[in-house]
Amino acid sequence: MIKVSPSVMCIDCMDMKNQITALDKAGADMFHIDVMDGHYVPNFALNGDLVKAIRRISDTPMDAHLMVTNPMDYIDYFHDCGVSTLTLHIETLVHPIRAMKKIHSLGMKAGLAVNPATDISNFKYLADYIDIVCVMSVDPGFAGQDLIPFSYDKIRELRTIFDQAGKKTDIMIDGQVKDGTAQKMVASGANVLVLGSSGLFKKYTPEQYPEALRFYKNLG
Ligand code: DX5
Ligand code: ZN
Repeated sequence: MIKVSPSVMCIDCMDMKNQITALDKAGADMFHIDVMDGHYVPNFALNGDLVKAIRRISDTPMDAHLMVTNPMDYIDYFHDCGVSTLTLHIETLVHPIRAMKKIHSLGMKAGLAVNPATDISNFKYLADYIDIVCVMSVDPGFAGQDLIPFSYDKIRELRTIFDQAGKKTDIMIDGQVKDGTAQKMVASGANVLVLGSSGLFKKYTPEQYPEALRFYKNLG
C-alpha cells in the first residue's frame, strides 16, 4: 500500500490542531514538516517548536524536510524535537554519507532530497546509507507550483538504481501530488506521497480526509 505524508506547511495554521487530529484519524502514515531558512530557499517555514507541539497531540511519525543551507548544524536539534525521519538536500551536503551515518547514529531514519535539476547517478553509491529519497517534482520553497514533467523519469531511474542494489528504499515524491499526477508517480515507482495544497488541503475538507487518504493509499 502507498504511504501518505500530509504537508503540514499547507495546513491553515489557525486550524492546525483540528486538522492534525483529523489527519491522524484518517490514517496519515507520517507528517511532512517543511523547514525553510529564507536562504537556501526564498521562503520561511516550520520549525522544531511546531514538531514538539504536534508530538504532544499525535504519535504519528514526522519527517522533517530541511531546506536549509547548513543542515549538518541542525541534525541534533531536530532529533531532540522528536522527528523520526530527517531528510536533507543532497545539494547542501559536502559529505552525504557522513550525514546519513550521523542521522542513523541518533536512531532516526535518514533521507536525501533531490532537486529537479540535480543528477541522480551517484545514488548508486548512496543506496546502502539511505532509508528514503525525496524526489522534488518542483523547485523547493513553495506549495502550489507547476510540476516539472521529467520527475516521473527520475523516479523510474531511482527505482532501477535501488532494485539493482537490492534495496527496498522508500521513494517519496514532493510537489503537485494530486489526482492525475499521483497515479503516474506510483506507476513510476514512488511509494510515499507528500500531499500538499492542490492534492489535499484545497480540495478536501477535514471531514473528507478519510476518503482522500484512502484514494491515494489505494493507488498501489
Ligand atoms: C515545497 C514543499 C512541499 C509542498 C508541496 O517546497 O517541500 O512539501 O508543500 O506542496 P504542493 O503539493 O502544493 O506542491
Ligand atoms: Zn517538502
